[in-house]
Amino acid sequence: MTRTAHLNAFLSTGGYHESGWLVQDYDASVDGDISHYRQAARTAERGLFDSVFLADVPSLTKFRAKFFPQIRWDPVTLLAVLGADTSTIGLFGTGSTTYSEPYELARRFSTLDHATGGRAGWNVVTTAHAAAAENFGRAGHPEHDDRYARAVEFVEVARALWDGWEEDAIVADRSRGIWAEPDRIHPAEFHGEYYDVAGALPVPRSPQGHPVLAQAGSSPAGVDLAGRIADVVFTPQPTIAAGKEFRAKIDAASIRHGRAAGSVRILPGLAFVLGSTEDEARRRRRELEDRADPELRWRNLAYHAGLDQKQIDPLSPLSPELAATAEGSTFAQFIVTEALASGRPFGELGAVITGLPGGLEFTGTPEQLANLIEEWVAEGGSDGFTLQPTTVPESLELFVDHVVPILQKRGVHRTEYQGSTLREHLGLAEVPSPHRQSVALDSDRR
Ligand SMILES: Cc1cc2nc3c(=O)[nH]c(=O)nc-3n(C[C@H](O)[C@H](O)[C@H](O)COP(=O)(O)O)c2cc1C
Repeated sequence: MTRTAHLNAFLSTGGYHESGWLVQDYDASVDGDISHYRQAARTAERGLFDSVFLADVPSLTKFRAKFFPQIRWDPVTLLAVLGADTSTIGLFGTGSTTYSEPYELARRFSTLDHATGGRAGWNVVTTAHAAAAENFGRAGHPEHDDRYARAVEFVEVARALWDGWEEDAIVADRSRGIWAEPDRIHPAEFHGEYYDVAGALPVPRSPQGHPVLAQAGSSPAGVDLAGRIADVVFTPQPTIAAGKEFRAKIDAASIRHGRAAGSVRILPGLAFVLGSTEDEARRRRRELEDRADPELRWRNLAYHAGLDQKQIDPLSPLSPELAATAEGSTFAQFIVTEALASGRPFGELGAVITGLPGGLEFTGTPEQLANLIEEWVAEGGSDGFTLQPTTVPESLELFVDHVVPILQKRGVHRTEYQGSTLREHLGLAEVPSPHRQSVALDSDRR
């Protein structure tokens, strides 16, 4: 049987490529920005995507503001708007476990799940960028594995909070004047190494029970967290073979944590440029690259690698000493490994690493992109993709108008939504309430 692909649209201002706002008819004003997101979410829903996705880092990268739009709206707030504009598509937003409190984030995602009829997803990230630390009054940015240790507890707290309300806690019995049964509300009473959360949420259990959990780290600690908690993983994978190897690691981690292999949907990032012919696609890619500023490129790579830009000479190769100061994240390690192996001046590295470091980049026709998606999914390299349109709205619209029909014809993409929640779109099991048993006993008693 043909396997269908799960499609997640990575929305961004102007597109995933930093020149996206320069090569299409584009209103780059602040007012224009939210309209673009609204239009893009509707386009993705028209294409019957599983979800849209908003990435996030809670800080402004000031040097980039010179080169391309640097607006990062609060993801959950924006998703509430996109949820009101659409009816069925899932809504993934990024929330940092290093720079948020579990009570606050659990409440916001639960509210989103209620407000959208069960379409909320939380991309659990630990935030690799140290700049966020100074926005939250922190003495420093925690180390990579320490961030993950906090993330494990953070999610445990969030789940305890989501499980706090029994499904039938609200009786809304106006004749007796009883709104809820207080003994069906269970405070979290969580006391761990990093978090102490005693109370219950002021938000009842949401339509999905738990919003869908995505996880975007691919380091050993990230994979372990995914195996423990994730429903979905976003990851950079360059080939089908790498995707399969990654899946084996995720499956092993799932089993380690008492879950079945195949519990996690793997959706690698895939940046794409489309053209009606290969030549046209290549021309479009060149247009994007020609407008990309080399200074931005190398500074951006240094930023992603967590390197001090002041210590970098763009005319010289990266020194091993400086490379040793890089962040522990997958992206950072990919960048410094490439820099050291190539021996090229750091300033030239930006010509080689142009998109998601270590991830897939595609330039070609709709037919060729459909082939790629079909092949990856058929061979088990992934369960679909996190599509990163290099220009938004333009290349997202091209995908929906020209790639989606091909995928549908081949049985690789749905022709209508079957379910109404994100969990249903992704074919994920329901999250049973831990109190369901007691609910059943209660009702037996009545
Ligand atoms: C498609 C995709 C989207 C991502 N989105 C975010 C994001 O919005 N915010 C973030 O902090 N990290 C995001 N990440 C992951 C980080 O860039 C980084 O890899 C992670 O914080 C460190 O985890 P790791 O070292 O386990 O890979 C994303 C990764 C991928 C592949």
